[in-house]
Amino acid sequence: MNFTNTETIQKQKFRIRNLLPEIGIDQARKEILSGLTNKKKTISSKFFYDKKGSELFEEITQLPEYYPTRTEKSILESIAPKLMNRNSSFEIIELGSGDCSKISILLDAVEERNQKNLNYMPVDVSMSAIENSVTELSERFPWLQINGYVADFIHQLGQISHSDKPRIICFLGSTIGNFAKNESIEIIQNLAKGLLKGDSLLIGFDLVKSEPVLHSAYNDSKGVTERFNKNILNVVNEIIKSDFNASDFEHRSFYNSKKSRIEMHLVANKNTLINSPLFEEPIKFYKGDSIQTENSHKYTISTIEDMLGNSELEIINIYTDPKKWFALVEFCI
Ligand code: SAH
Ligand code: TRP
Repeated sequence: MNFTNTETIQKQKFRIRNLLPEIGIDQARKEILSGLTNKKKTISSKFFYDKKGSELFEEITQLPEYYPTRTEKSILESIAPKLMNRNSSFEIIELGSGDCSKISILLDAVEERNQKNLNYMPVDVSMSAIENSVTELSERFPWLQINGYVADFIHQLGQISHSDKPRIICFLGSTIGNFAKNESIEIIQNLAKGLLKGDSLLIGFDLVKSEPVLHSAYNDSKGVTERFNKNILNVVNEIIKSDFNASDFEHRSFYNSKKSRIEMHLVANKNTLINSPLFEEPIKFYKGDSIQTENSHKYTISTIEDMLGNSELEIINIYTDPKKWFALVEFCI
């Protein structure tokens, strides 16, 4: 008899489910194809995050120029004890969870008496991000019940099962800012529809600030952002079997002050033709043509309030840092 076999017990504490096969690769191919054949060529930012992309993003978050991560973490540290001990039994759903460094700040603050009833559900399209974070968290927080989902939070939120415990939905990292204005409003309204009384929604918004600070956050001196941006072409090659050569494109990222957003592009540095078995004819790029890969909107408190529109959401707290560079906004219905 073995009275000390904690291993099986620990393994029962977590589960990972991959829901992406239900969307299927054909849907991903369609999305990529439609973006590349648009007049203004685009690739959806969710295609940044294969294993390499998730690793590069993690490296970005540690760069001195990339202020959002450390600023949001400092706010999380100050609110964690209050946020994590309001209810003795609850669950946390984190959308686009990435690495587990932010949620760890919250989990560190859970008082012992509240630990046994806590469920954590990270949702991310990146399989490697989910696997790594679930593994690390289950070691660091053996009391935590973890249900990880490899899934698209735009199309598959309805499939994330949950109990009837009060929930905190976390959407951190200003990922909301990576969507077009109308899409981000739709996301917030959809999240609002799923909220019950007693639940809360915590969203991280990057705030408008001086242009040089914004510019260097997306043009770092080590070129990590450049590598991250170009890696999307490798992900696309893998999915649609195309022949993009990342060295034929330059990283370009700038602040569009009219639209309060950083725009990230890949600009062809020569005329080139891209082939894929999915294309009827090769896609033509002239030198200087660009593919937009990302927007990162920057907000003010009043533009955040405007996003609520006629949803039932109410802002209950706005937490920010002394420089007012980042805001964590807590909503409820
Ligand atoms: N929340 C983390 C990571 C932010 S980067 C942080 O603040 O550091 C954005 C994350 O969202 C990535 O891990 C990416 O894989 C994930 N993501 C992007 N689009 C997604 C989608 N449609 N569905 C699920 N996850 C998505
Ligand atoms: N949500 C992050 C942001 O808008 C995503 C991000 C950071 C990003 N750096 C990037 C996306 C570089 C593409 C390239 O800040």
